[in-house]
Amino acid sequence: MTIIRSIIRKYSTHPPKRQSSLSDIYKLYKNKTPITVITAHDYITGKIADKSSEIDAILVGDSLAMVAKGHPSTLELEFDDFYYSTKSVIRSINEKFLIVDLPFGSFESSINQCIDSAIKLMKLGKIGSIKLEGSYELTDRIKTLNNFGIPVTGHIGLQPQKFNLTGGFKAQGRNSIQALEIFKQALHLQEIGCKLIVLECIPEKLSHYVTENLNIPTIGIGAGNKTSGQVLVMSDALGMLDNKLPKFVNPYLNIHNLSIDALNNYGNDVKNLNFPNSSTHTYPMNDEEFEKFQKLAQTCI
Ligand code: KIV
Repeated sequence: MTIIRSIIRKYSTHPPKRQSSLSDIYKLYKNKTPITVITAHDYITGKIADKSSEIDAILVGDSLAMVAKGHPSTLELEFDDFYYSTKSVIRSINEKFLIVDLPFGSFESSINQCIDSAIKLMKLGKIGSIKLEGSYELTDRIKTLNNFGIPVTGHIGLQPQKFNLTGGFKAQGRNSIQALEIFKQALHLQEIGCKLIVLECIPEKLSHYVTENLNIPTIGIGAGNKTSGQVLVMSDALGMLDNKLPKFVNPYLNIHNLSIDALNNYGNDVKNLNFPNSSTHTYPMNDEEFEKFQKLAQTCI
């Protein structure tokens, strides 16, 4: 009984704290406390992330194209589909700092297009930062977003939106020339006002060097543990799909297999008439009322 009570206490809804802001994230950075970020792609995953006491921020990443919508890459994702999913996540969030991606096709063609997409998202509320993949090519866009009060998270190293150009989903910056380029991109993003930078799939030595030489937080994925924080895609971390996981992911759970086992149990229970159970899963009806009903029903037959 005591164990059940403590489980209920641990997972039950507690009075929500205020939503974290960029300055809360910077406090962690200043204190050298690793910043923990996880993606959420719908209301359920948003709720789970928002309730985890060890998660600091939630990212609505365009990885949802691949893990929630079944596309082969992030390029196929329509802004409207992404917008719809973002709205679901936002409804689930009370406490965590929220970062939202600009998906492929929603910011490239002009500054206006970029600002319009970002403002449309910001108007949903609760968003603390907009994330964009790229560096120099986004200078005007990032500066303008900043001028309008929208904190920007940069994203360099492996940029999944550019996989056609970079030879697939491969680690970047593994030779000195590429590494220097990534370092320069990071310095540039800081210079033009980015507040956070995601470093994806680069060597740990490089992400360490970049992090040590910036005065804004870096959030790594496949970049080792010397960054200011880490981000993972929730479906990878919790084993929600049966896909091969990237080498840098630590699977903390296998929800996919656990769920199949649970559905098999449900199916077996139904087939063996063990579910629903008459005493626990059904609504009672007084015998007298049922007899009256039978008499009334006879008139309909
Ligand atoms: O879209 C995403 O989930 C991301 C993370 C991999 C950083 O950008």
